[in-house]
Amino acid sequence: MEKIIDEYKQGESLILEAKENNQRKLFIESYGCAMNFSDSEIVASILANEGFNTTQNLEDADLVLVNTCSIRDKAEQTIRKRLEKYNAVKKINPKMKVGVLGCMAERLKEKFLEEEKIVDLVVGPDAYKDLPNLIAEVEDGRNAVNVILSKEETYADISPIRLNSNGVTAFVSITRGCDNMCTFCVVPFTRGRERSRNPQSILEEVNDLWNKGYKEITLLGQNVDSYLWYGGGLKKDFVKASEIQQATAINFSKLLDLCAQAQPKMRIRFSTSNPQDMSLDVIKTMAKHNNICNYIHLPVQSGSNRILKEMNRQHTREEYFELIDNIKRIIPDCTISHDLIVGFPTETEEDHQDTLSLMEYVKYSFGYMFTYSERPGTLAERKMKDDIPEAVKKRRFNDILQLQQKHSLYRTQQDLGKIVEVLIEKESKKSSAHWSGRNEHNTVVVFPKENYKIGDFVNVKANECTSATLIGEAVGLSNNN
Ligand code: SAH
Ligand code: F3S
Repeated sequence: MEKIIDEYKQGESLILEAKENNQRKLFIESYGCAMNFSDSEIVASILANEGFNTTQNLEDADLVLVNTCSIRDKAEQTIRKRLEKYNAVKKINPKMKVGVLGCMAERLKEKFLEEEKIVDLVVGPDAYKDLPNLIAEVEDGRNAVNVILSKEETYADISPIRLNSNGVTAFVSITRGCDNMCTFCVVPFTRGRERSRNPQSILEEVNDLWNKGYKEITLLGQNVDSYLWYGGGLKKDFVKASEIQQATAINFSKLLDLCAQAQPKMRIRFSTSNPQDMSLDVIKTMAKHNNICNYIHLPVQSGSNRILKEMNRQHTREEYFELIDNIKRIIPDCTISHDLIVGFPTETEEDHQDTLSLMEYVKYSFGYMFTYSERPGTLAERKMKDDIPEAVKKRRFNDILQLQQKHSLYRTQQDLGKIVEVLIEKESKKSSAHWSGRNEHNTVVVFPKENYKIGDFVNVKANECTSATLIGEAVGLSNNN
């Protein structure tokens, strides 16, 4: 559970370095996936040019923006609750304006203004460049909405302002949208068509981060393996592109290779991989570069072929195993994590057992686990009945959770007694005398601070562990510094 909360953070307020002449105060917080956190950095950058510095105090804000998530009903309820809090503050500070960004804005559009009277501004994920105009409208006393989705927008020309940053790890967005149409998922509707960002601008951002002292990047996309750049445009138009464009196209393995070469000491991660699109070339590129972490987040959603088909996932259980086998053959120490959904419509006990046996085969190092939540407008909602009783969903959820905890412990124990390289990110939450960082397998490692500092790569001897954390002692700086 800890991991779920880590990834799908519960609204964190964000800060950025102040621009001296900026007078207006922006309070911006993000819910949901890493992409939302990354998008908020783009929004902060756009608004920094409009005279806004961020504040961590809601009460001080002239403008409050909340970057929202629609992935499950619970995520939306959390945001509705948060709006109640803003409402209370607005009563004290009536000049404060409230804007909703992200997936919920896109899903509900104008309806948001009716349903939540407190909201002044509704802006979808592809319309952030229009924020200056929209804010001007709001300041003139009108509500403003822009939820137009784009086939081109990648914000490649905007240099994100790093918010709430540890100065060590950063997200770099490489694709937007998703064309996969998994039947349970709202993302294709809220984030639109898949498009890839110009590799030149990605490399510039990576180099810039390195020059600013960052040591680890995560290349971000809903489906990174389908990254494809041939000069812009949608992937489906690629066949129509000129021969030259096709010959010089850059796919994800090539992009990974370019990033790893550009900054050989920068640790590189990526998320999320989709089994159907992950090629052997990607795995080989990972094996070729020491600085690409041997860790893959590879959501599977279900272990049952019948359910995978109902979900419109484009692979079978057997093909997934084949991919896992290839990964292990090419990178024997690669760790793998998952996303799983229990209680998808029509899921039987037998389907559930298939999920458990798939987990048993892979023995994931960890995973993000969910009970099915019906989302309006998705194919599953339109064509299938949400027919698995809550109690059954809950029991199946507990089954996978328990099995995952067993496997996490098994995987973490594999590192006991070993020396692992850790990038220090922050002070341990539990002890101010310890640092916290991660090894390349994405396992959290804590150890006494001694004279090390945030941003150091340190070799740590792993002495003890829980299912999610290694506890150890530093044996020296690694030669990666
Ligand atoms: N490709 C994306 C997936 C986004 S959604 C990525 O970059 O992570 C993250 C996870 O939420 C999915 O993998 C799925 O396991 C879960 N999820 C999506 N829609 C859901 C729903 N309707 N109910 C329950 N879980 C869902
Ligand atoms: Fe959603 Fe499937 Fe895309 S889970 S984000 S439609 S890969």
